[in-house]
Amino acid sequence: MTICYSLTDFQQALSLIPNNYKIGFVPTMGALHQGHISLVERALTISDSVIVSIFVNPTQFNNPNDLARYPRTVEEDCKKLKEAGASVVFIPSVEDIYPGNDTRNISLGGLDSTGEGPRRPGHFKGVAQVVTLLFDIVKPAYAFFGEKDFQQLSIIRFFTGELNYPIEIISCPTVRESDGLAMSSRNTLLNAKQREAAPHIYNTLKRAQEIASAQILPGTREKITPEDITPEKFTPVMLSRWVESEINSHPLLKTEYAEVVNSLTLQLVQNWEEAEDIQLCVAVNVNPVRLIDNIKLKQTI
Ligand code: PAJ
Repeated sequence: MTICYSLTDFQQALSLIPNNYKIGFVPTMGALHQGHISLVERALTISDSVIVSIFVNPTQFNNPNDLARYPRTVEEDCKKLKEAGASVVFIPSVEDIYPGNDTRNISLGGLDSTGEGPRRPGHFKGVAQVVTLLFDIVKPAYAFFGEKDFQQLSIIRFFTGELNYPIEIISCPTVRESDGLAMSSRNTLLNAKQREAAPHIYNTLKRAQEIASAQILPGTREKITPEDITPEKFTPVMLSRWVESEINSHPLLKTEYAEVVNSLTLQLVQNWEEAEDIQLCVAVNVNPVRLIDNIKLKQTI
């Protein structure tokens, strides 16, 4: 495995890869866990050579403390990537990625109007900026992204198509700890009590999924008459409110949002018939850490 700490080194390593090789690319911000490694493993199954980037992209952090706190474990990351079977690791400097003023304005197709978009102004603009710059440098055939960051995945899919990149975007399922907590580099920042509380987020999402399929109010099954068990009785908005209060019932968790959206447009849905695919997305503050997660509520087969 070749480790490149500069753009020049990386371009040299890239030139050694045969032209006909299909490159699989896994962009990351490091502090790697099994979620990231699952992307590399998936990439290895269909690519001739797997390239992983580690770059804590300053332009996607709307909160300077979050950027300063972001865990950095490059040495361990490289060990894990070598074991997994990656060919090249690209660890550029900020100057390598942003040598001058980047004036491009990438359309996000309105996919940033819900969820993380309004809560983290500029975040997806920064993601689009760095991902396109990395695509231009790496020129992969495939790029791999996790469903854990559902909105990010949708937005990357969108601009890759809009900008006619000849790159196939491949989504990979969320990898979870044994207690259900979605793996995240930020999990290492939780203290013991917070870590104990955090699985309550996914447990609630799973219950919401059951409720959405049954379309009844939680805890009311015994109390209501059969004719009350109708889709109208439990709208997506009611489900969001229930998720929010259920998560907040744990004193260490504070829901920032719980939104039920059309999985394709990411617009809020008012009823269960409105979209064929429906997703529940949440962000939860576990002070000062912020965790996100999501689950499918409805899917066309
Ligand atoms: P980062 O948070 O490091 O995540 C890198 C990739 O790993 C993303 O595609 C993310 O969705 C995926 N990932 C993270 N946790 C996962 C899990 N538990 N299961 C499956 N996949 C998981 O996302 C970013 O970095 C950045 O925004 C980036 C795309 C690199 C641009 O800077």
